[in-house]
Amino acid sequence: MSSTTILDISPFLSQKTQLWKACGIRGLFPLENIPGMISLLAGRPNPSTFPFESITMKLRPTLAGMPESKGNDDPFNVTLEGAVLAEALQYGATAGVPRFIDWLENFQAHVHKRVRDDTWSVTVGSGSQDLMYKACEALVDEGDSILVETPFYPGTLGFLAALPCSLIEVHADGQGLNPANLELILANWETERPGKRPPKLLYTIPSGSNPTGASIPEHRKVDVLRLARKYNLLVLEDDAYAFLYYGPAGKQARSYFALEPDVNAERGRVVRFDSFSKVLSSGMRLGYMTAPPRLATAVNLITSNTNLQPASLTQIMAYTLLSQWGPEGFLAHCVSVAAVYRARRDIFERVARKHLAGLAEWTTPVAGMFLYIKLLVHPEGKEVDSQVLIANKAVARGVLAVPGTAFMPGGGPTPFVRVSFSLIEEADADEAFRRLRGVILEARKEVEMEER
Ligand SMILES: Cc1ncc(COP(=O)(O)O)c(C=O)c1O
Repeated sequence: MSSTTILDISPFLSQKTQLWKACGIRGLFPLENIPGMISLLAGRPNPSTFPFESITMKLRPTLAGMPESKGNDDPFNVTLEGAVLAEALQYGATAGVPRFIDWLENFQAHVHKRVRDDTWSVTVGSGSQDLMYKACEALVDEGDSILVETPFYPGTLGFLAALPCSLIEVHADGQGLNPANLELILANWETERPGKRPPKLLYTIPSGSNPTGASIPEHRKVDVLRLARKYNLLVLEDDAYAFLYYGPAGKQARSYFALEPDVNAERGRVVRFDSFSKVLSSGMRLGYMTAPPRLATAVNLITSNTNLQPASLTQIMAYTLLSQWGPEGFLAHCVSVAAVYRARRDIFERVARKHLAGLAEWTTPVAGMFLYIKLLVHPEGKEVDSQVLIANKAVARGVLAVPGTAFMPGGGPTPFVRVSFSLIEEADADEAFRRLRGVILEARKEVEMEER
């Protein structure tokens, strides 16, 4: 461990980070912790005026991961009251509730086998997307180039497209980000883009990608990390579906964050984003960033001047549950959630095969909630753009799906369409694929007529 180097993230930070100043009030909050200090600082509302006396969470009795009831404790009911409720209803720390952060840092150390040290820290956000946006604000300068695994999540695409940078597509395949494609771009950068500053960021979705459903195998991650070191890139690891892994037990690829000390004998090149949206609740809006502290400080400065903090109430709810569960209990819960998605995937794929055999193809996902279906419209295998078929003809037949263009920075033509199996029941999926079959068959006929 002592022989690993620590990447200095400062040169990666944007000029803009210097414009964000400590909030005149929040910047003084830490002084309130000095023993004996009397604080007249914050305009915190008086909690005795709040209408909530207690909030009880009744947990599902079937929940995996819950420890056995101890004594009189009822593990299935948790009541927030008194000082804890007052804290949950009050303004709180910018980076998140300190004991929640402490729990998450222990959890990251446990899951990713990273020693808790001063090379990384956890920051809580209002969902992982909140943190990804702020991290990009803190990292992207005018004229920068960002490498983006393509196709990718339109939520990130939306805010990246609004930043003053160019998006360079690194094409993914059925196994996720392809390091050979990445290397081709990087090795030819100067000849193909003379005078253009080399890219400093790579954005990737390693597990159950949205939209492709693909999960990158560990050997590819190793190659990507080596390239990141060689070409001095930060890796933004958006792992929103990591907890929805339902492939073979014990075979889940280690994260980039876990691998970087081993692969590159280095720490600090990977910025990781986790989300509670898929396993606790998406409405609680909780995610967390694991990043070098200098970047965390920059992100916290943005938070303290914009939305102030993530919601105290949902953090306390999550912390109360997670501290009862412990890391292993939470992971057991995630395994049981993932099993639900695996069962749904199986049913969904069976129905898709029934209607679309020979008319579409896809890679079976081992994580997440999406199939990324390639429509086989042309009899000789030429690619036909899915946009009109999905956005117009499928809608007219009563089936909604996302055309692949939504996931491409250039919006370019693509024969793919994203369909989700997270909610749909078998009978509806059956009917949806029957209708989609009709759309593809009709399009085939049109192509045949045109080519006659
Ligand atoms: C790849 C990816 N990243 C991030 C997010 C946003 O997650 P959160 O709800 O934590 O903001 C999503 C949401 O669907 C996603 O698909």
